[in-house]
Amino acid sequence: SGERSKDVDYSAPNRGSRVRVFGRVHRERKQKGVAFVTLRDGYGFMQCVLTGDLVKTYDAVTLTRESSMMICGEMWDVPPGAHAPNNRELHADYFEVIGKAPGGDDAITNKVQAKGDPQTLLDQRHLVLRGETAASVMLVRDAVEHAFNVKYHELGYVKVSPPALVQTQVEGGSTLFDFNYYGEKAYLTQSSQLYLETVLPFAGNCYCIEKSFRAEKSLTRRHLSEYTHVEGELDFITFDDLLEHLEDIICGVLSIVLANPRIAAMLQELNPDFQMPERPFKRMKYSEAIDWLVEHDIPNEDGETHKFGDDIAEAAERRMTDIINRPIFLTHFPTEIKAFYMQRDPADPRVTESVDCLMPGVGEIVGGSMRMYDYEELMAAYSRVGIPAEAYYWYTDQRRYGTSPHGGYGLGLERFLAWLCKQHTVRDTCLYPRYMGRCKP
Ligand code: 4AD
Ligand code: MG
Repeated sequence: SGERSKDVDYSAPNRGSRVRVFGRVHRERKQKGVAFVTLRDGYGFMQCVLTGDLVKTYDAVTLTRESSMMICGEMWDVPPGAHAPNNRELHADYFEVIGKAPGGDDAITNKVQAKGDPQTLLDQRHLVLRGETAASVMLVRDAVEHAFNVKYHELGYVKVSPPALVQTQVEGGSTLFDFNYYGEKAYLTQSSQLYLETVLPFAGNCYCIEKSFRAEKSLTRRHLSEYTHVEGELDFITFDDLLEHLEDIICGVLSIVLANPRIAAMLQELNPDFQMPERPFKRMKYSEAIDWLVEHDIPNEDGETHKFGDDIAEAAERRMTDIINRPIFLTHFPTEIKAFYMQRDPADPRVTESVDCLMPGVGEIVGGSMRMYDYEELMAAYSRVGIPAEAYYWYTDQRRYGTSPHGGYGLGLERFLAWLCKQHTVRDTCLYPRYMGRCKP
């Protein structure tokens, strides 16, 4: 079997040893009878140098980018003044082309990626993913998802896997995907929150990383129909505990990710200005945000001056976050504009103990709250929003069988990555984006 580029032992005693590598042609160029082929194998890049008779063979096969091949040869330092990944190159003495690519297609290069028509690039996403930027984002994504698992377990949280096929809504009826479930109406889950709440009594603090689905009928750069939702739920806490935990998990995950040199180098390329957020994050009440928007002449969705009770729309939220230019915990949203389950602020019953975490460039990446834990209050909330209480009996029972002050949150992984990797849209931070009008490849 071949060696992956990461396993090629290049310590001094092995320098000059013969190796065999497999990969795809990432770049190739010829000059003065020497051909340079950079192979890519997912772990890294290996510059291979072909000289002498090999170059003739090479000319005969007219090597194309993305062709897969095997190359054998010796490992050497690159000569002074020359550049190659990891400062080493493979001096080839034999090669085989395994699968020849058609060539002539530059759509996969990063340069064309930046310029290309977005729809074409999305149709060709399976090839675009081979480009350095798209691939780096996917590898950072893997590191981030792993870091969440590590950090949660460090904190003693238990991971569960709630169902995706459900018969209850969490975040309002307008974004539900419904389908026929053996003759009954069912939905694709919008959030695992309600299920996580039922986990607290047997596992304590818990989390999940699952897909959530939203039938978003608008096209924005931060809405997907299917996204990865990192959700946590905490038992016997106060609202302040929730905010502190959120800082902990966000900064903890970032530290773990940045401690990985390979990923840190990719992040440096993707987002050279990235800075670890300063703790504590800025705290801002919804009512203060409304005042701020009024002062800064940023209008609401109808083009009018913001007033208490308005939704803060995506554009206004992002402008505010960009100007303040640091993570913000926006808290205490009015009851009317938030989901039915949110606990009211005991000090001001017009508002809820709710929080959105806003990041520059993206806006909201986290939505969370304390949960209504009084049985009567929850029953009143169901009828306020017209939810049939029967279907929620299992959720209501949490309030009957030993209720507790508890709260949690959901973080959109694609939005977190858009912020961390400085990507314009969440369509570039998932493998194959799904949004209104696109369900392929
Ligand atoms: O604010 P949301 O709707 O909150 C909930 O779903 C809560 N039930 C979560 C909880 O408390 N367990 O969604 C949470 C986060 C948002 O802040 C956003 O990052 C992401 O999920 N999100 C989306 N990401 C991509 N596309 C969409 N259509 C999204 N909708 C929400
Ligand atoms: Mg939200």
